[in-house]
Amino acid sequence: MELIEKKSIAAKIAPKLRMLCSAEGLAGVKFTADKKRGAKETTVESVLSVYEGGAEEIYVENVGTFSIYPVYPGASLAGKIAIVTGSAQGFGAGIAEYLAANGCKVCVADMNAAGAEAKAAEISEKYGIEAISVGANVTDEESVKNMVDETVCAFGGLDIFVNNAGIVRAGSLEEMTKQNFELVTSVDYTAFFICTKYAVQPMKLQREIAPEYMADVIEINSKSGLEGSNKNFAYAGAKFGGIGLTQSFALELAPYGIKVNAICPGNFLDGPLWSDPEKGLFVQYLNAGKVPGAKTIADVRAFYEAKVPLGRGCRVEDVTRAILYIVEQKYETGQAIPVTGGQTMLN
Ligand SMILES: NC(=O)c1ccc[n+]([C@@H]2O[C@H](COP(=O)([O-])OP(=O)(O)OC[C@H]3O[C@@H](n4cnc5c(N)ncnc54)[C@H](O)[C@@H]3O)[C@@H](O)[C@H]2O)c1
Repeated sequence: MELIEKKSIAAKIAPKLRMLCSAEGLAGVKFTADKKRGAKETTVESVLSVYEGGAEEIYVENVGTFSIYPVYPGASLAGKIAIVTGSAQGFGAGIAEYLAANGCKVCVADMNAAGAEAKAAEISEKYGIEAISVGANVTDEESVKNMVDETVCAFGGLDIFVNNAGIVRAGSLEEMTKQNFELVTSVDYTAFFICTKYAVQPMKLQREIAPEYMADVIEINSKSGLEGSNKNFAYAGAKFGGIGLTQSFALELAPYGIKVNAICPGNFLDGPLWSDPEKGLFVQYLNAGKVPGAKTIADVRAFYEAKVPLGRGCRVEDVTRAILYIVEQKYETGQAIPVTGGQTMLN
């Protein structure tokens, strides 16, 4: 049997083993395709009945070994397992770091495989927590399935899926090409469907074993998902669509204890999207004369800060506070939470 097939089978077993060990999800399971000496031997069919509690190793015939280990609670997200897409840089990197700092094992997933690997290594070193990286394209179904299987084989399940990867291709109706429109739609809209389809599979398996257990799908949306964005309709349209998916997934997944919520941040003015000295939005807007009278990058920045009642751009910690709220609360789903310093208000 190919390794990829073994991992696919393992991804259906590990989440159940994990919850048998701790119904609160305070356990980890690591899968290795080889047979470990001393591991209890069994078959796919009877693996769950062989498990008797406590830390141990189980070898499943023709598949591989599941090493089960308990995690002791301490940090607020101790024992939790998360995937953050697009986490090699920007908001995603900050979210992955925050989760790890609070005891969560993380998969740093990004199309930029080298950047993801470096970020995962940095997180492991800094927080002493297990982090893996997966090179993944969120618009490609096979790549997304692999991202979820790799995470489940490394850690044993999945509790928090953060759909963060996103791109911007701004432009007026005259400027926008169909190709760019479809690119934005595929990354910012369609990928949320593809990722959720695969991310909820281990979550459902966990719930089969632990009927009270709850998991989270979190979409990093945008204030542009709540109100239109001038000459940026491809992005705003995809983000509006993301709210529709969030609400619909929330209805479908509520019976499985999976909450689905979106966070709608304001402009992350310190992040690479805005501040990159060569292709960041500050430089682009200055060169395009988008901000009337602006002569420097500082002028462009001041223009955008002045739009925010609380007077500054959105920061990573504003978003991670919303993430912690979403994960800790147990009675809200299908919501879109603005994190905009008052720039966008719900009605
Ligand atoms: N920057 C902002 O001002 C802002 C504001 C509101 C919401 N957001 C949202 O936050 C999220 C992150 O934005 P950011 O500013 O940190 O972006 P960023 O450009 O700094 O990082 C995005 C990451 O996603 C990765 N990525 C892009 N396409 C991918 C794909 N197909 N598969 C896998 N990875 C892919 C990139 O390699 C990159 O590492 C996005 O969904 C964005 O819409 C950003």
